[in-house]
Amino acid sequence: MALSDLELPEGLELRRDERGLALAGDGMELRGDFAHLLPRLRQDRLHRELLVRAARVRGVEAPTAVDATAGLGEDALLLAAAGFEVTLCERDPVIAALLADALARVQEDERLAEVAGRMQLVEGDAKETLASLDEAPDVVFLDPMFPERRRRASTNKKLQLFQRLERPCEDEEALMAAALAARPRKVVVKRPLKGPYLAGVKPSSSLAGKVVRYDVIVPPQNPA
Ligand SMILES: C[S@@+](CC[C@H](N)C(=O)[O-])C[C@H]1O[C@@H](n2cnc3c(N)ncnc32)[C@H](O)[C@@H]1O
Repeated sequence: MALSDLELPEGLELRRDERGLALAGDGMELRGDFAHLLPRLRQDRLHRELLVRAARVRGVEAPTAVDATAGLGEDALLLAAAGFEVTLCERDPVIAALLADALARVQEDERLAEVAGRMQLVEGDAKETLASLDEAPDVVFLDPMFPERRRRASTNKKLQLFQRLERPCEDEEALMAAALAARPRKVVVKRPLKGPYLAGVKPSSSLAGKVVRYDVIVPPQNPA
């Protein structure tokens, strides 16, 4: 779909300039940006990242992950930096356009091009992508919008723009079912620290940080 055909909430527009594509509105701009994550990709820090620890699979040379709720791809970048081949699914066409633009720009950044080479965007609903995989991925990662983020606007001004695009997650049971049906070694779910389990599925283990928690579900047939 052409950018000019994308529907945007009132007061928001997509602009392209020499720094790439941006969502603009309310005096703010939001664009996909991977370079600001570079400090977190240093090997000593990366392997302490809770997401990387939660997703780790043993004895697999080139592990694969599906980030079913890619957003602007920041978590997917952490997984790719940790060695995963990552399929990023994003269903919102405006967010997908911002992500596609960031992925295209990062190819020109020699610090990140190799990592970004392990990231592939599939625009559309992750439930369909998960159902059409040829091989079971090692990990499916789910990070749908936190319920309380609907009620409370983010203090981060840029995230406020993102939140105006995001739809509430009304398909958490179906998303979890699609993740499990893809037969991964594990499903990793990002949740608010005190939030309920996604789709009520009790995890095998959890890693808790200050603000978020990673629930790890290891399906019985696929020990990680
Ligand atoms: C909280 S954001 C994810 C942020 C992301 N983890 C990051 O690091 O930038 C959730 C994203 O998932 C997308 N999403 C939610 N349900 C989806 C689905 N069923 N298929 C594809 N994308 C989905 C939303 O459009 C939104 O962009």
